[in-house]
Amino acid sequence: MSDIRRVGVVGAGLMGSGIAEVCARAGLDVLVNEINGDALDAGRQRIARSLDRAVRSGKLSEADRDAALGRMSFTTDLGEFADRDLVVEAVIEHEQTKLDVFTTLDKVVGREDAILASNTSSIPIMKLAMATRRPQQVIGLHFFNPVPVLKLVELIPSLLSGADTQARSEAFVTGVLGKTVVRSQDRAGFVVNALLIPYLLSAIRMLESGFASAEDIDNGMVLGCNHPMGPLRLADLIGLDTTKAVADSMYEEFKEPLYSAPPLLLRMVDAGLLGRKSGRGFYDYS
Ligand code: CAA
Repeated sequence: MSDIRRVGVVGAGLMGSGIAEVCARAGLDVLVNEINGDALDAGRQRIARSLDRAVRSGKLSEADRDAALGRMSFTTDLGEFADRDLVVEAVIEHEQTKLDVFTTLDKVVGREDAILASNTSSIPIMKLAMATRRPQQVIGLHFFNPVPVLKLVELIPSLLSGADTQARSEAFVTGVLGKTVVRSQDRAGFVVNALLIPYLLSAIRMLESGFASAEDIDNGMVLGCNHPMGPLRLADLIGLDTTKAVADSMYEEFKEPLYSAPPLLLRMVDAGLLGRKSGRGFYDYS
């Protein structure tokens, strides 16, 4: 049994909106935060579109969609997170931004045993925990995109995460959200990205060097290895800015060339070609 009823989600981008959606569909009261009204509106619309998609594919009734929407509220004021049992931070993959969020959450979240979780893919949980006065209640809960579809959550305790925080987080993810947990040590990339990011970067290097076309690289892995999508389309789905940010954190941590972002990725991010979310990346989505 989980004692978590009121969830706060900081950030309503690709990941935050997905996390908010699955929490609301699981019957929880969800409060979503963004830095301004436009970002909040975009997040609200993303959630509504995703719920409509679930209705269209017969996974959700219209009544359940409306009930899930009714359990969600939206705010630009983190001060409203005082009564949350669990907060999941899902802002951009930028260390100082995340540190600032954790410092603020520590000030505003009132419940003494509230869990402060991060959906970071690569920033050490220990650093985020030390931005608070309650490091024993800080933990990594790393979801996968698209959150409503993918069943995995990586659970990353820091050196100081309490046993109670770990047990309550795991019970929440498995018992309430119905997802599967894998545990990872607090190392940049955790389990999945430590394997996935070098693969995506290799595909980008392959394209950059003229070895093969984007379509052939992706078809190779879809048809030859039965992956649901090829590496370049997957990088577009994740977002090229996020792919770069995760690679940079891993490079910073391990100093291994296999984590170093290739120039083509850097130039595409500079150009604002961020993948599906910006309308163009390795493929055109407009
Ligand atoms: N939101 C909600 N539901 C979605 C969705 C989305 N964005 N995209 C697809 N779906 C649902 C569809 O509604 C559909 O549901 P039904 O079967 O009930 O109709 C189902 O997923 C399959 O979708 P499609 O038929 O449209 O397309 P598909 O079969 O090609 O699947 C996919 C799309 C689920 C994205 C699949 O290609 C896939 O799983 N790709 C790999 C994704 C992946 O590896 N993600 C991990 C990224 S790494 C990460 O997130 C972490 C990080 O730190 C970087």
